[in-house]
Amino acid sequence: MSKWILIALGVALAAGFATWLVLTQWPAVVPAAPETASASMASQATSVPMGSQATSAPATAETAPAAASTTTNTAVAAAPASPELKPIAPVRVTLSSVDGAISEGEYAHSTEIAGVKVYWVNDGRVLCVGLVSPGTGYVAVGFDPVDRMLGANFILGSVDEGILTIRDDYGNAATAHDADTTLGGVDNVLSAAGHQWADQTVVEFVIPLNSGDSTDKQLVPGGSYPILVAYNALSDDFTVRHSRRGTGRVTLDPAP
Ligand code: HEM
Repeated sequence: MSKWILIALGVALAAGFATWLVLTQWPAVVPAAPETASASMASQATSVPMGSQATSAPATAETAPAAASTTTNTAVAAAPASPELKPIAPVRVTLSSVDGAISEGEYAHSTEIAGVKVYWVNDGRVLCVGLVSPGTGYVAVGFDPVDRMLGANFILGSVDEGILTIRDDYGNAATAHDADTTLGGVDNVLSAAGHQWADQTVVEFVIPLNSGDSTDKQLVPGGSYPILVAYNALSDDFTVRHSRRGTGRVTLDPAP
């Protein structure tokens, strides 16, 4: 009998030890659980590349200005120490905002020819032009023709499903024009933008006053030039004849 009592006591002791072991280890197991969970959440975030890219992109963008402002602050702090530092004159980067929208006062001059509003502003180097046609086809202007369309420096623009097409042409006959690049010249449009509504097309562009191209016309600040304007109500095809066309004149500002 005493043998069975000893066995029972041994079993009870083993059970007690096992219980003690579990209880003493439990707090160590509990903190481990969230670590595992957060590791798995982290791996879930990594497995959503779009989210992580979208988050990291602005962070990179924010870093750049911070670095720039640090540089600026350093320069400002250093300025009094160097009497030779002089203020930098502001540089005029652009005369108008070439964005496909024309705001009040954006251009110094405007006129209306054949239903097309023509806006322009120049300095000593470039001419910025805005055209607004009452159609959804191309809109175009030709500078300084010799005989009807002959010899004019044409710029034609069209907007189709939000995409602007702009081309530098030259009047190679009294009633014809073709791309400068086809006629041995160069496309000299420096910058352009366009926008279209149901009943209106806006095209803005910048060209050099003197590109030096044989298929352009030199324009001189302060000069006055005849212009041709045309648009097609529906077609974006530059080879299709105008719905309406007219002539007018632009006078450029003297060089500042
Ligand atoms: C493929 C395109 C073009 C074709 C087939 C074409 C055709 C013609 C024809 C046949 C004429 C003479 C008949 C008329 O007075 O209507 C003409 C005149 C005229 N075109 Fe065009 N044209 C085209 C593009 C342009 C463009 C892009 C402009 C202006 C930016 C323009 C402006 C004019 C003007 C102002 C006249 C009258 C000229 C005058 O009589 O003094 N044309 N065009």
